[in-house]
Amino acid sequence: METPTISLLCFSLLLFATTLPPPAVSVCNSHDKAVLLKIKEDFGNPYVLASWKSSTDCCKEWYAVKCNTTTHRITVISLQYDDNLSGHISAAVGDLPYLEFMLFHKLPKLTGTIPQTVAKLKYLQYLWISWTNITGPVPAIIGKIKSLQYINLQFNNLTGSIPPSLSSLPNLGYLDLSRNKLTGSIPPSFGSFQNQNFYLKLSHNQLSGQIPSSLGDGVFNTVDLSRNMLTGDVSFLFGKNKSVLFDIDLSRNMLSFDFSNVEFNPTNLQDIDLNHNRIYGKLPEGLTELPNLLLLNVSYNRLCGQIPVGGSLQSFDQYNYLHNKCLCGNPLPACK
Ligand SMILES: *[C@@H]1O[C@H](CO)[C@@H](O)[C@H](O)[C@H]1NC(C)=O
Ligand SMILES: *[C@@H]1O[C@H](CO)[C@@H](O)[C@H](O)[C@H]1NC(C)=O
Ligand SMILES: *[C@@H]1O[C@H](CO)[C@@H](O)[C@H](O)[C@H]1NC(C)=O
Ligand SMILES: *[C@@H]1O[C@H](CO)[C@@H](O)[C@H](O)[C@H]1NC(C)=O
Ligand SMILES: *[C@@H]1O[C@H](CO)[C@@H](O)[C@H](O)[C@H]1NC(C)=O
Ligand SMILES: *[C@@H]1O[C@H](CO)[C@@H](O)[C@H](O)[C@H]1NC(C)=O
Repeated sequence: METPTISLLCFSLLLFATTLPPPAVSVCNSHDKAVLLKIKEDFGNPYVLASWKSSTDCCKEWYAVKCNTTTHRITVISLQYDDNLSGHISAAVGDLPYLEFMLFHKLPKLTGTIPQTVAKLKYLQYLWISWTNITGPVPAIIGKIKSLQYINLQFNNLTGSIPPSLSSLPNLGYLDLSRNKLTGSIPPSFGSFQNQNFYLKLSHNQLSGQIPSSLGDGVFNTVDLSRNMLTGDVSFLFGKNKSVLFDIDLSRNMLSFDFSNVEFNPTNLQDIDLNHNRIYGKLPEGLTELPNLLLLNVSYNRLCGQIPVGGSLQSFDQYNYLHNKCLCGNPLPACK
């Protein structure tokens, strides 16, 4: 009874084999694969990239990258939270011509600079390198990547000045260069971002000089320039139909101007933080006419006179008003 069993087995094996799908074809672009292997090497061949092997399909089996499903070209590289990844960002990243999204975040051993070759990435929309130990400048040449919508270079060790060329990026709506060691002044060109809902954060650097008055011509949802060494007048950022729509944080600078007659765009303003500056004069009455105001902090300035009564001004605690020259009235002690 053995023979029929074996032939039945052979037959079913044959049937099985013919109904199997053909062996999986690798769709990964061979140029992109070679570039990624170079990038892996320049990251010090970290454990997290163990799946990046020349024998496997970079579109299907590799960690931290994605391909376009039609063209099979690499569009995304995204590496985060890894203490083992060292080395530097390879200049080879510029040779991933269809890259749209680049993210390197919380990689404490990543050093080196932002390679100039990123300027070749003509479809790049997101340039996001944050919480690393990269050094060197913000390359001015990234002002040539017209597709950029989002730049986040927060919390690195970048030095040098801010390239004025960034304001010529037509699609840029978000720029965060906070918590670096940037010096020099804010480029006057930063009043001309085309996006009408711009997010600008340059806090925790060593920026100096006056805030350029051209910033009064831009339209921002957020301006955070706190913890720098900026001087002079900023009243042009306020005004009836001006400039900052939601949040403005200019705290911990050396700003000096008369606050008394400043007017506000009442529609949206939510947060106004001016603590630790040298602002003088009185608090303007217009502050009582901001229906959406959630925070006003004017502590540690040189303001004087009665806190205007109304709006939300009495709902903030005294710590938002303390340490001025002679500010008085609720929530501070009554004026004499
Ligand atoms: C993939 O690439 C094709 C051709 O360039 C493009 O039309 C399509 O939008 C891309 N798909 C995605 C999801 O980006
Ligand atoms: C770091 O590398 C070690 C082995 O070298 C591994 O066990 C560990 O999981 C790695 N950590 C991460 C976050 O990849
Ligand atoms: C930079 O490296 C130092 C140690 O060399 C580390 O303590 C620090 O957390 C790193 N910075 C970031 C932002 O990861
Ligand atoms: C980055 O700055 C931190 C804090 O100032 C410092 O400890 C670290 O050594 C710097 N890293 C590099 C690579 O310069
Ligand atoms: C405010 O808006 C009005 C009308 O929209 C315009 O004529 C005026 O120039 C604007 N003022 C400022 C200071 O932008
Ligand atoms: C206002 O600023 C002061 C001084 O930095 C700080 O102590 C206080 O907590 C701040 N208030 C709020 C609500 O952030």
